[in-house]
Amino acid sequence: MLRKINSQRLLENIERYAQIGKAGKIGVERIALSREDQQARDLFKTQMIKAGLVVSVDEIGNMIGLRPGIQNVAPVAIGSHLDTVYQGGRFDGAVGVLAGLELIQTLNDQNIETQKPIALINFTNEEGVRFAPDMMGSHAFAKLGDLASILESAAYDNQEQTVDSELQRIGYKGAMKCGAIALDSFLELHIEQGPVLEMKGTNIGAVEMVQGIYWTKYTIQGQANHAGTTPIALRKDAGYAAAQIMKFIGDLSRVEGSRLLTTVGTVEFKPNAINIVPDSARFTLDARSVDLEVLQNGQLQIDEFINGLLIQSDLRLKREEMVRFAPVQFDAAVVDLVESAADRLGCSVKRMPSGAGHDAQMMAAICPTAMIFVPSVNGVSHNVAELTLDADLENGANVLLNACLALTNR
Ligand code: GLV
Ligand code: MN
Ligand code: MN
Repeated sequence: MLRKINSQRLLENIERYAQIGKAGKIGVERIALSREDQQARDLFKTQMIKAGLVVSVDEIGNMIGLRPGIQNVAPVAIGSHLDTVYQGGRFDGAVGVLAGLELIQTLNDQNIETQKPIALINFTNEEGVRFAPDMMGSHAFAKLGDLASILESAAYDNQEQTVDSELQRIGYKGAMKCGAIALDSFLELHIEQGPVLEMKGTNIGAVEMVQGIYWTKYTIQGQANHAGTTPIALRKDAGYAAAQIMKFIGDLSRVEGSRLLTTVGTVEFKPNAINIVPDSARFTLDARSVDLEVLQNGQLQIDEFINGLLIQSDLRLKREEMVRFAPVQFDAAVVDLVESAADRLGCSVKRMPSGAGHDAQMMAAICPTAMIFVPSVNGVSHNVAELTLDADLENGANVLLNACLALTNR
């Protein structure tokens, strides 16, 4: 039997969270472990308790709300993240969390008991714009790294602030061990953040895989000197070297047929003055591909180019690997369930890969996992103009509800 969520309640709740860290007309800036993140978490905790969930917080600040099932077995988990990037949108992450809450409220309203319990999760720091790595909470939940070093991760803009100290400051350093709850499966609803669904006029994406992500921080050390008196041949210009490297990085993914996506999203010169040859240039590389070999080769080519350039120009390099996530394949049976729920609801559906990183790619390491995508207007995301239409949000939440019910009863 098909079930439907209360779309008006869902849309009102999305609007409510969009006020926490409001940026521009419809955007949101709610950086992980900030005051705004704390406010959104407090509201979410209150709403989960009101919906009858038993709420726990784990050591990395993941918030987990449990709804019991008829059987005392591993829960089916749903969820996403409430943090955003700088000047981000109201939908990226929040849709998955709030549609999950709406799902629980709908089950309560309709007196539906499920065979398996359901766990609703808000993962900590999915975006990674303040602390690396991204997908931090799900990464820790799946026990894929060393928790102690993740907790020591310092904010990019303030070495005094660590994940641990900020979790304590906002009151979300929980007692539960990461991954203490074994899960039956995981399902994440998310906006596509790209143009594919809209271009094809398709309602729902049944996500089959997430592409690989490599993040690297490069710091080039040269020598500060006078911009007017230092002959070009005698300069150790970290800024000029960084510019050449950035051009190489950008060109690599602009070659016809390239399957590599490269982005230099941050750059910082020191001392950063108009008349001083920069003695330090720091920039980050975000490289992605659906093909691990393409990603590895691209990274290799970039590093070879940098090494060659630095030898020629007598500069020094510090290279830090921040993230190394291989492409992840989702569970075929869970993808099938998403597709069939969409079908039954009368939604057009397309199987597709995810270009963005998601908590689901970490959860796939510990349980059968898949994702549901809904269209993004003009394919715009990580931008205050990010928009998904009400009808698409409603479709996505209904697919989440019915696919989740299929999982709880399988
Ligand atoms: C997460 O938003 C990412 O960077 O893909
Ligand atoms: Mn997201
Ligand atoms: Mn994002």
